[in-house]
Amino acid sequence: MSYLNMQDEKLLPVVVELNKLLANYHIYYQKLRNFHWNILGENFFDLHIKFEELYTDARTKIDEIAERILTLRYHPMSNLSDYLKISSINEVSPLQSDKEMVNEIINDHKLLLEQMKLVIDKSEPASDEGTMDLIGAYIRELEKASWMLNAWTKDSKDKLKSSVM
Ligand SMILES: [Fe+2]
Repeated sequence: MSYLNMQDEKLLPVVVELNKLLANYHIYYQKLRNFHWNILGENFFDLHIKFEELYTDARTKIDEIAERILTLRYHPMSNLSDYLKISSINEVSPLQSDKEMVNEIINDHKLLLEQMKLVIDKSEPASDEGTMDLIGAYIRELEKASWMLNAWTKDSKDKLKSSVM
Protein backbone atom coordinates (compact mmCIF):
# COMPACT_ATOMS: atom_id res chain seq x y z
CA MET A 1 0.00 0.00 0.00
CA SER A 2 1.16 3.50 -0.85
CA TYR A 3 2.27 5.79 1.98
CA LEU A 4 1.14 8.75 -0.13
CA ASN A 5 -2.34 10.28 -0.05
CA MET A 6 -2.31 10.55 -3.83
CA GLN A 7 -3.63 8.45 -6.70
CA ASP A 8 -0.77 6.57 -8.34
CA GLU A 9 -2.09 6.96 -11.89
CA LYS A 10 -2.01 10.76 -11.59
CA LEU A 11 1.60 10.71 -10.39
CA LEU A 12 3.08 9.12 -13.51
CA PRO A 13 2.73 12.34 -15.60
CA VAL A 14 4.43 14.26 -12.75
CA VAL A 15 7.32 11.76 -12.74
CA VAL A 16 7.67 11.95 -16.54
CA GLU A 17 8.12 15.75 -16.31
CA LEU A 18 10.42 15.46 -13.28
CA ASN A 19 12.65 13.07 -15.26
CA LYS A 20 12.87 15.62 -18.09
CA LEU A 21 13.79 18.28 -15.55
CA LEU A 22 16.44 15.94 -14.12
CA ALA A 23 17.88 15.39 -17.62
CA ASN A 24 17.96 19.14 -18.31
CA TYR A 25 19.68 19.80 -14.99
CA HIS A 26 22.45 17.29 -15.76
CA ILE A 27 23.29 18.90 -19.11
CA TYR A 28 23.09 22.37 -17.53
CA TYR A 29 25.36 21.21 -14.66
CA GLN A 30 28.03 19.90 -17.02
CA LYS A 31 27.83 23.05 -19.16
CA LEU A 32 28.53 25.16 -16.07
CA ARG A 33 31.58 23.02 -15.22
CA ASN A 34 32.72 23.40 -18.82
CA PHE A 35 32.40 27.23 -18.57
CA HIS A 36 34.00 27.28 -15.09
CA TRP A 37 37.08 25.55 -16.51
CA ASN A 38 37.37 27.30 -19.85
CA ILE A 39 36.46 30.92 -19.12
CA LEU A 40 39.16 33.37 -20.28
CA GLY A 41 39.65 37.11 -20.02
CA GLU A 42 39.28 40.00 -17.59
CA ASN A 43 36.13 38.56 -16.00
CA PHE A 44 37.80 35.24 -15.24
CA PHE A 45 37.77 35.58 -11.46
CA ASP A 46 34.12 36.73 -11.21
CA LEU A 47 32.69 34.20 -13.62
CA HIS A 48 34.91 31.27 -12.58
CA ILE A 49 33.42 31.67 -9.09
CA LYS A 50 29.86 32.42 -10.29
CA PHE A 51 29.75 29.29 -12.50
CA GLU A 52 30.98 27.18 -9.57
CA GLU A 53 28.27 28.66 -7.35
CA LEU A 54 25.63 27.81 -9.96
CA TYR A 55 26.82 24.23 -10.56
CA THR A 56 27.05 23.58 -6.82
CA ASP A 57 23.41 24.69 -6.51
CA ALA A 58 22.47 22.54 -9.54
CA ARG A 59 24.12 19.49 -7.94
CA THR A 60 21.92 19.88 -4.84
CA LYS A 61 18.79 20.26 -6.98
CA ILE A 62 19.69 17.20 -9.12
CA ASP A 63 19.75 15.10 -5.97
CA GLU A 64 16.50 16.60 -4.66
CA ILE A 65 14.67 16.02 -7.96
CA ALA A 66 15.83 12.38 -8.15
CA GLU A 67 14.83 11.81 -4.52
CA ARG A 68 11.42 13.40 -5.13
CA ILE A 69 10.88 10.86 -7.94
CA LEU A 70 11.83 8.09 -5.49
CA THR A 71 9.48 9.55 -2.87
CA LEU A 72 6.73 9.25 -5.50
CA ARG A 73 7.78 5.57 -5.76
CA TYR A 74 9.45 5.54 -9.17
CA HIS A 75 13.05 5.04 -10.26
CA PRO A 76 14.65 8.25 -11.58
CA MET A 77 16.35 8.12 -14.99
CA SER A 78 20.08 7.85 -14.35
CA ASN A 79 22.00 7.24 -17.59
CA LEU A 80 23.74 10.15 -19.29
CA SER A 81 22.84 8.75 -22.73
CA ASP A 82 19.14 8.91 -21.75
CA TYR A 83 19.53 12.45 -20.40
CA LEU A 84 21.01 13.60 -23.71
CA LYS A 85 18.06 12.11 -25.60
CA ILE A 86 15.33 13.92 -23.65
CA SER A 87 17.00 17.16 -22.54
CA SER A 88 15.85 20.37 -24.20
CA ILE A 89 19.13 21.98 -23.07
CA ASN A 90 21.95 21.27 -25.52
CA GLU A 91 25.68 20.82 -25.04
CA VAL A 92 27.86 23.61 -26.46
CA SER A 93 31.50 24.31 -27.28
CA PRO A 94 33.67 25.82 -24.52
CA LEU A 95 35.15 28.22 -27.07
CA GLN A 96 32.89 31.18 -26.28
CA SER A 97 33.33 34.69 -24.96
CA ASP A 98 32.35 35.49 -21.37
CA LYS A 99 29.20 37.30 -22.54
CA GLU A 100 28.19 34.41 -24.80
CA MET A 101 28.60 32.04 -21.85
CA VAL A 102 26.38 34.16 -19.60
CA ASN A 103 23.73 34.52 -22.32
CA GLU A 104 23.84 30.76 -22.87
CA ILE A 105 23.18 30.18 -19.15
CA ILE A 106 20.33 32.73 -19.11
CA ASN A 107 18.77 30.86 -22.04
CA ASP A 108 19.20 27.53 -20.24
CA HIS A 109 17.39 29.06 -17.26
CA LYS A 110 14.46 29.85 -19.59
CA LEU A 111 14.36 26.20 -20.68
CA LEU A 112 14.57 24.99 -17.07
CA LEU A 113 11.76 27.38 -16.07
CA GLU A 114 9.60 26.09 -18.95
CA GLN A 115 10.16 22.52 -17.78
CA MET A 116 9.45 23.47 -14.15
CA LYS A 117 6.11 24.96 -15.22
CA LEU A 118 5.23 21.65 -16.92
CA VAL A 119 6.02 19.84 -13.65
CA ILE A 120 3.71 22.22 -11.75
CA ASP A 121 0.95 21.77 -14.40
CA LYS A 122 1.00 17.99 -13.87
CA SER A 123 1.34 18.25 -10.07
CA GLU A 124 -1.87 20.24 -9.63
CA PRO A 125 -4.36 17.57 -10.83
CA ALA A 126 -2.42 14.96 -8.82
CA SER A 127 -2.74 17.12 -5.65
CA ASP A 128 1.03 16.67 -5.36
CA GLU A 129 1.74 19.65 -3.13
CA GLY A 130 5.18 18.37 -2.14
CA THR A 131 6.39 18.59 -5.73
CA MET A 132 4.69 21.97 -6.24
CA ASP A 133 6.40 23.31 -3.11
CA LEU A 134 9.84 22.01 -4.16
CA ILE A 135 9.65 23.18 -7.77
CA GLY A 136 7.88 26.44 -6.87
CA ALA A 137 10.89 27.39 -4.76
CA TYR A 138 13.24 26.44 -7.63
CA ILE A 139 11.32 28.76 -9.97
CA ARG A 140 11.73 31.69 -7.59
CA GLU A 141 15.46 31.03 -7.11
CA LEU A 142 16.15 30.55 -10.81
CA GLU A 143 14.27 33.73 -11.75
CA LYS A 144 16.42 35.65 -9.25
CA ALA A 145 19.65 34.13 -10.60
CA SER A 146 18.51 35.06 -14.13
CA TRP A 147 17.92 38.68 -13.09
CA MET A 148 21.47 38.86 -11.72
CA LEU A 149 23.07 37.31 -14.81
CA ASN A 150 21.01 39.60 -17.05
CA ALA A 151 22.14 42.63 -14.99
CA TRP A 152 25.76 41.52 -15.53
CA THR A 153 25.25 41.66 -19.33
CA LYS A 154 23.98 45.27 -19.20
CA ASP A 155 25.79 48.55 -19.44
CA SER A 156 25.74 50.57 -16.19
CA LYS A 157 23.76 53.30 -18.03
CA ASP A 158 20.98 50.92 -19.14
CA LYS A 159 17.54 51.30 -17.53
CA LEU A 160 14.84 48.81 -16.55
CA LYS A 161 11.10 49.47 -16.98
CA SER A 162 9.58 52.16 -14.75
CA SER A 163 6.77 51.08 -12.42
CA VAL A 164 5.70 54.70 -11.84
CA MET A 165 2.70 55.72 -14.03
FE1 LIG B 1 37.13 24.46 -9.83
